[in-house]
Amino acid sequence: MTMNLLLINARLVTMQKVTMQNDSDGYQVQDAQFVHVCDGKIIQMGPMQACPEMDVLQTLDCEHKLVTPGLIDCHTHLVFAGNRANEFEQRLMGVAYEEIARQGGGIMSTVKATREASEQTLLTNALRHLSGLIKDGVTTVEVKSGYGLTLESELKMLRVAKQLEQHAKIKVSTTLLAAHAVPPEFKDDADAYINYVCEQIIPAAVSAKLVDYVDVFCEGIGFNLKQTEQVFATALSFGLGIKGHTEQLSHLGGSALAAKMGASSVDHIEYLDAEGVNALAENGTVATLLPGAFYFLRETQLPPIQCLREAKVPMALASDFNPGTSPIASLLTIMNMGCTLFRLTPEEALRGVTCHAAQALGIAAKRGQIKVGYEADFALWNVTHPAHLCYEIGTPLLHARILNGVLCDD
Ligand code: NIG
Ligand code: FE
Repeated sequence: MTMNLLLINARLVTMQKVTMQNDSDGYQVQDAQFVHVCDGKIIQMGPMQACPEMDVLQTLDCEHKLVTPGLIDCHTHLVFAGNRANEFEQRLMGVAYEEIARQGGGIMSTVKATREASEQTLLTNALRHLSGLIKDGVTTVEVKSGYGLTLESELKMLRVAKQLEQHAKIKVSTTLLAAHAVPPEFKDDADAYINYVCEQIIPAAVSAKLVDYVDVFCEGIGFNLKQTEQVFATALSFGLGIKGHTEQLSHLGGSALAAKMGASSVDHIEYLDAEGVNALAENGTVATLLPGAFYFLRETQLPPIQCLREAKVPMALASDFNPGTSPIASLLTIMNMGCTLFRLTPEEALRGVTCHAAQALGIAAKRGQIKVGYEADFALWNVTHPAHLCYEIGTPLLHARILNGVLCDD
């Protein structure tokens, strides 16, 4: 039997991009709409007066609540063990993030805890953090590895990321970030570690079918341009997509390199220059903004928002949820930060967690908009205008989530 659902009296914000000319398409509120879902996909929608008589399994009266696409968090490090509260305290005493990393803390302390943890522990932790995102209407989450840095532990992280789909009502996109830091086993030989990533970890992750994208931390405390290029080239040779942690703490040129090699997104980009912005525009690469890390590290260099706007580079917005630089499991809080810290408009913020986040994950043709043919993932909100989603922090704003046309019980 086919499963179908009819939403009635919905106050829709579709985020549909009808034309490239009108930047505001899809943000206008359309009240009193119906959406007919069959087998997890939207098959028909329109004003209530045009709703045909139909025999449906389930009708959901939205009572004029706001309905948006389910939110997409396109950049997280959700799987890890331990926490870094002590490091937070150290930084408040004046020690810099990069200094802590150089002393073997930072990413390495999470690597140690993650290597020692069982899959069950990692899963329990990840589900706890995921529950914060789910409360904010997230229906798709990207999850990176990068706290294992050995073949076994990187694959362990990706397996846990995939398992989230069995234990929560969520869709997961996985990214291999083995090139996150040089592990102690390869101390002083980052090139050798990159060879290991390319010759062993990437092929193993591909044959285990655990990975959608490959990411690199291109930075002074990460990997240089040449190493980054080698990882990207290997990923591409396996048919994987690429994305980068680039221009977060300094300008190395990783964003332009990633864009020229066909990256679907470059993330952080506080130190991106005008030439880099052009490279994104020319190659259709999404700029993913991570205000949580900006806030948490008390960064003062703003990403080149106005330049990105002028170049019409799509901007995504994500939590970057991780224990070191963004322990913020709330995408609505991140939307607020996008507006207050980066001066995004609420419309840009909402695009950043719907259609543009979908583009960053290469799924823009099926998620991130409410549109015929698209997957029926929705968030229903106790607000009347979408700007409210960016405005109020802490009050539960979500009424319900719908995933593949099924009302979630969370
Ligand atoms: O996205 N920039 C590198 N990676 C993470 C932080 C990782 C950590 O400190 O544990 C980020 O900010
Ligand atoms: Fe990150």
